[in-house]
Amino acid sequence: MILDQFSPSIFILTLFTFSISIQLRVSNSQISPTIYEILKLNGLPMGLLPKGVTNFSVDDSGRFQVFLDEACNAKFENELHYDQAISGNLTFGRINELSGISAKDLFLWFLVKEIWVDIPSSGLIYFDVGVVSKQFSLSSFETPRNCSASSVSKPRIEFEN
Ligand SMILES: *[C@@H]1O[C@H](CO)[C@@H](O)[C@H](O)[C@H]1NC(C)=O
Ligand SMILES: *[C@@H]1O[C@H](CO)[C@@H](O)[C@H](O)[C@H]1NC(C)=O
Ligand SMILES: *[C@@H]1O[C@H](CO)[C@@H](O)[C@H](O)[C@H]1NC(C)=O
Repeated sequence: MILDQFSPSIFILTLFTFSISIQLRVSNSQISPTIYEILKLNGLPMGLLPKGVTNFSVDDSGRFQVFLDEACNAKFENELHYDQAISGNLTFGRINELSGISAKDLFLWFLVKEIWVDIPSSGLIYFDVGVVSKQFSLSSFETPRNCSASSVSKPRIEFEN
């Protein structure tokens, strides 16, 4: 019998570990996760969204809406502008149909349509603005940044796909 190859103590330890992981799952599901945790569970860095989220919703298909205190800008390698309302479609390692985030490049603002990471991770994150994508280091998006109020990010350039 296969079980004979396991010592009883390992068997008990396995049972014990198993029951702990079940308990953790139960207690986790009682606390609703933050949008930052939801990003992380989907293989994306928490710093994609800035501090200042007031409320959000995510449905089973991954459609999400996030509301911030106010429209704002946050500094990364490039500056990002966040509208007060951000929405998109979240799947593992990727956000598509994104609306509400623009990235500054060469003094122009570009609407970001899609964001994704490599799986397995290469340490890079990609921002697609329609015709080109730009890569950044994933580590700069580890934690949510401060975001200073900024109502405009104009002119904005939107490429049609
Ligand atoms: C978040 O709050 C705003 C303003 O109070 C409201 O209009 C919006 O429907 C709320 N959205 C979600 C996803 O809860
Ligand atoms: C979300 O994105 C996934 C993967 O690209 C796609 O299969 C799915 O249809 C999208 N869902 C919505 C609601 O757009
Ligand atoms: C972010 O804002 C908080 C509170 O306003 C401040 O204490 C902190 O120093 C700021 N962090 C950075 C990196 O600017």
